[in-house]
Amino acid sequence: MTRYSFPDGFLWGAAASGPQTEGTAGKPHCSIWDSWFSEQPERFYQQTGPQRVCETYTRYQDDVALMKQTGFNSFRTSIQWSRLIDDFETGEPNADAVRFYHAYLDEMIANGIEPMINLYHFDMPEVLQKKYGGFESAHVAELFSRFARTAFTLFGHKVKYWITFNEPIVPVEGGYLYDFHYPCKQDGKLAAQVAFNIMLAHAKAVQVFRELMGSGEIGVVLNLTPTYTRSDSAEDKKAAWYADLLFNRSFLDPLVKHQFPKALCELLAFHHCLPDTTPEDVRLITDSRIDFLGVNYYVPRRVQARESAYTLDYFSPEYYFENYVDPNGRFNPYRDNNEILPVAVYDIARNIRDNYGNIKWYLAEIGIAMDLESEGPVQADGVIDDGFRIGLMEEHLVQLHHAIRDGANCFGVHQWTFIDNWSWINAFKRRYGFYRLDLETGERQIKRNALWFRELALSNQFSTEERPS
Ligand code: FCB
Repeated sequence: MTRYSFPDGFLWGAAASGPQTEGTAGKPHCSIWDSWFSEQPERFYQQTGPQRVCETYTRYQDDVALMKQTGFNSFRTSIQWSRLIDDFETGEPNADAVRFYHAYLDEMIANGIEPMINLYHFDMPEVLQKKYGGFESAHVAELFSRFARTAFTLFGHKVKYWITFNEPIVPVEGGYLYDFHYPCKQDGKLAAQVAFNIMLAHAKAVQVFRELMGSGEIGVVLNLTPTYTRSDSAEDKKAAWYADLLFNRSFLDPLVKHQFPKALCELLAFHHCLPDTTPEDVRLITDSRIDFLGVNYYVPRRVQARESAYTLDYFSPEYYFENYVDPNGRFNPYRDNNEILPVAVYDIARNIRDNYGNIKWYLAEIGIAMDLESEGPVQADGVIDDGFRIGLMEEHLVQLHHAIRDGANCFGVHQWTFIDNWSWINAFKRRYGFYRLDLETGERQIKRNALWFRELALSNQFSTEERPS
C-alpha cells in the first residue's frame, strides 16, 4: 500500500448548483430551465424537470448535517439569479431569497464548512433570455454585474471564495452549437458573441468585487478538457491544436493570461464569426484578474484530422477535427462509454503550471457517473455499494498527488456531487452523489463512497495499492 497525503489546509468537499438542487419553491422568477421544461418536457429524460429535485430550499439544515458527517470542510453551490433578484434591471433582491441564502450560508459556517459561491450555473433568467437574448446582449452582461453587486453586498462578509461562472463555454456549446441548452440555436457567430459577452459579464463582476470587497477571493470554474491525438502525424496534431484553441484556450487565455489568442481571432474572422466588441470591453476582460481557477474534469477529448467533408451550414469547431475513439481506451460502461483517463488530471495540472503562471487552482468538479442499476440496492449494512466509483476516484487522486508533488498549485478537491441531483436534460439518468436521492420520498441514502471520502477528508490522506495510470 502507498499513502498519499495532501497539503495542510487542503479543501475537501463537493460541488452542486442552485438550479440542480434547490427546487423552484419560493422563486420569484423562472430560469430558462424552469420555462424550457414547461414548454418542452419531452426534451428531458423521463420528463423530469427542476421543480422539486433535492428540495434544498426546505431541507438544507439536514443536508448541511450530512455534509459535516461526510467530512466536508467546504462546499460549492450557486446562488440563482432568478431567485435572488426581484428586479433584474436594478438588482433589487427578493426578501425571501435573502432569508434563504443567509440561513443556508449560516448553517454551513456554523458546521465548519467553507461556502464557495458561484453566481452562474447555466441558469439565465427566462425574461432576460426572451427579452434580450440572454448573453447575446451586452446589456445582460451589465445586468449580471448588478446581480453580482447585490450578492457581494449581502453575503460578502460570509463568503470567502466567489466564482463568477461555472463552465462558461457550456452554455455556448449547449445553447448555440449543439442543441442541449435553451435557446437551442445553432449559429457560430452568435456562439462567439455569447462567449465574449459571458467573459464581459465575468470581468464586470470581478470589477465590482474589487470595488466593494476588501477581502475574499474571486475566480472562475472552467471545464478543461485536455486534447489527445490519434497519432503523431502533423495533421492529427494540428487537429488537436485547433480543438485546444477552441475549447480550452478560448476562455483560459483571456481570463488567466490576459490575452485573446491571435489565432482564435483570425479563425473567427475567417469564418465571419468575430463578435461585436468595443476596445473598452476587450480591455476590461484582459485587464481583469482572478485570484484562483476552478477546474472541472470528467473526460478527455481525442481527435483526429478530418477525413470526411464538413457539411454543416454554420461554423462549429468540428470544422477543424473529428472526434476519435481510442481502440485501447478504458471506458465507463455506465456513462455513454465515456473514456476514463486519470492521467489527464496530471496533464491539466502540468499545463496550468507551465503555461498559465502556475495560478492557484482547485479541482472544482470530478465525478464518476453510474446509473441506479449499476450502483445496486442498499446493502445489508445500510450502504449502497459504489466501489467502482471509489476505485476511479483513487486513480484520479493519485494523479493529482503526483501533480502536486511536481509543483502544481492545487488547493482542494470537490467531487461532483453531494446528493444525486438533476442534471439538465439528462435529469436523473446518471447518478454522481455521495448520497442517493430517492425520487419518490426525497430520502437520502448513503453510498460507500461517502464513507471512503470521510476518511480521506478528515485524515487528509488515503492509502491504496500502486495503480496503473
Ligand atoms: C458538469 C456540470 C454540472 C453537472 C455535471 C455532471 O458539466 O457543471 O452541472 O451536470 O457536469
